[in-house]
Amino acid sequence: MALKTIDALDLAGKRVFIRVDFNVPLDEQGKVTDDARIRAALPTIQHAVKARARVILASHLGRPKGKPEDRQKLTLLPAAERLQQLLGQDVILADDCIGDGVRKAVKDLGPGQVILLENLRFHPEEEKNEELFARELASLADVWVNDAFGTAHRAHASTAGMAKFVKEKAAGFLIQKELEYLGKALGSPSRPFVAIVGGAKVSDKLKVLENLLAKADAVCVGGAMAYTFLKAQGVEVGKSLVEADKLDLARQILDRATARKVDLLLPVDHVCGAEPKETAKRVVVNDRAVPADLMGLDIGPKTLDRYRQRILSAKTVFWNGPMGLFEQKPWAEGTFAVARAMADSPAVTVVGGGDSAAAVEEAGLVEKMTHVSTGGGASLEFIEGRELPGIKVLEE
Ligand code: 3PG
Repeated sequence: MALKTIDALDLAGKRVFIRVDFNVPLDEQGKVTDDARIRAALPTIQHAVKARARVILASHLGRPKGKPEDRQKLTLLPAAERLQQLLGQDVILADDCIGDGVRKAVKDLGPGQVILLENLRFHPEEEKNEELFARELASLADVWVNDAFGTAHRAHASTAGMAKFVKEKAAGFLIQKELEYLGKALGSPSRPFVAIVGGAKVSDKLKVLENLLAKADAVCVGGAMAYTFLKAQGVEVGKSLVEADKLDLARQILDRATARKVDLLLPVDHVCGAEPKETAKRVVVNDRAVPADLMGLDIGPKTLDRYRQRILSAKTVFWNGPMGLFEQKPWAEGTFAVARAMADSPAVTVVGGGDSAAAVEEAGLVEKMTHVSTGGGASLEFIEGRELPGIKVLEE
């Protein structure tokens, strides 16, 4: 169903409450280390500013547990400062998200001005989706716009609950874009459609794999989850991480791929170490089997070449999950090489958020992709085929 988007509304002079996802990583000094989510929200914010709306932004940051120090650590001040630079205009940071002070600040807001409310999760009612809290947030607004794709899988007061207490609601441009690209990749992909799936556990990606097996022409598997599949095929995996209780499940997935005539590719060689540490010696094992004293920590060069060829000859590529322990340099090559292959491919390339998006960002290849999702958990749930509460309320 097509969603109503913000450009369908008359915003002039109205109080427009935009739920954004400014849950961004911060360094020790509290500086934003990756502003991708803030930049991704700019088109919607700029549209509202240009339309002379009185713009109220709201987000969560982290998972505060009600401790006093959380107020300092998880304030949205760094996000407000970054947004101010990007927007090139003042961004007022409210000291809370509800209450008399906020009401007054919103009342004083002029057309085209922007206020960012303080971390919604400083109030536990946000995550509990309490009606009173949702009503209070809604009372600040004439229009509710949800543009927080990264949080669309949460049924919280600001992402879902407040929708029924506002006069008008719409999706922002980021949500529109995310649904378009993720939806198109999975709904009506140009073929061949190649999916690259990685990560530690088969159990985490089970639904994703099931959904992709119904749609893709080939699925290339990497990350520690590949060892559960290899073990299920009777291949020796040494000390590699294996989900021993998921071997039957892995066999079923392999059988399903065969029945559906989907090529499910597993590593044919590996980069191994004796332990999952940066200091461990890097050993390239030119075989499907991993020696008893080693563990597979990244895909090997032959595997990489096979996956790269698939990516280059595809018309649509979807990627979710790292190919190895990419947070540590010795085991990062497979993940970055997948990012490079996607950048070099003429295909529609969609990166499904989380670790893969972080790797693409780190490699400086974001601009080379058709779409990099800003959602971690949200994009995963979307790819699993689940309904996202933050989207559902926009459809009602
Ligand atoms: C995310 O980073 O995935 C979103 O901002 C949601 O955060 P949460 O997992 O703390 O709900």
